[in-house]
Amino acid sequence: QQFENILVETRGRVGLVTLNRPQALNALNKATMEELVAAVTAMDSDPEVGAVVITGSEKAFAAGADIKEMAAKGYLEMYAEDWFRGWENLTRLRIPIIAAVSGFALGGGCELAMMCDIIIAGDNAKFGQPEINLGVIPGMGGSQRLTRAVGKAKAMDMVLTGRFIDAEEAERSGLVSRVVPAAVVIDEALKAAELIAAKSKPAAMLAKEAVNAAFEMGLAQGVVFERRVFHSLFASEDQKEGMAAFTEKRPPEFKGR
Ligand code: HXC
Repeated sequence: QQFENILVETRGRVGLVTLNRPQALNALNKATMEELVAAVTAMDSDPEVGAVVITGSEKAFAAGADIKEMAAKGYLEMYAEDWFRGWENLTRLRIPIIAAVSGFALGGGCELAMMCDIIIAGDNAKFGQPEINLGVIPGMGGSQRLTRAVGKAKAMDMVLTGRFIDAEEAERSGLVSRVVPAAVVIDEALKAAELIAAKSKPAAMLAKEAVNAAFEMGLAQGVVFERRVFHSLFASEDQKEGMAAFTEKRPPEFKGR
């Protein structure tokens, strides 16, 4: 498949998707969203791909939804076209996704990073939800995912003032998993993705589903959900292989079944 706004490659068992609209700091227009969702959806269902890294450029992961594409729209147009709903297709995918963030992750860019399962930030990263400066509010889940990630105090601060936080503050606040030197952010993300991709893919997908269930379920219900999923993995060859490899003191060789 040919893409205009993203670059797609696979390195071993890891898929790498690079946002590639440098003239607009990777602003996320509709076409970019559709291409990104199509590329990662294909990786999700490809048994040879075990994890995905989404990244941007050194200057910008993504500077937001495309303001120029939206500026002239009216309410009914936004509603009828259900603007931004397409991003839900990305959040429904089961393959683990890592965001490798350098530079600006603003508005929709911050929201895209938060749709991923792990955020690895370069020390030059800047996160923000500056929509308030445009007379609107976050529209791709920011008010919800940011609040769950960093709590009310920091989320209100960012969403109401529009101020950016740097990588260090983002890590301190629980928004990102790790901060690494900007020059190696993609390498570090690829390394983490390779580690994940070497696991049993069904187990990794179910681990992701179980952690995400913590955001949807109460504790008792979530713990039961986890236990059912845990039990179900005893139907896999990979469970037999993983536990046999441990007893035989050798590395496991997972087959994804
Ligand atoms: C469209 C954008 C863009 C965006 C940058 N560009 N961000 N185009 N949508 N979100 C374009 C600029 O217009 C410019 O194009 C080019 O990219 C380079 O940007 P500059 O502003 O010249 O770069 P710089 O001076 O380095 O400033 C970087 C920046 C600034 C601080 C990131 O670009 C910025 O504030 N961008 C907008 C950030 C933002 O508000 N994001 C939230 C969007 S709303 P030209 O052609 O002029 O050279 C959102 C949620 C949706 O994401 C909610 C509804 C709105």
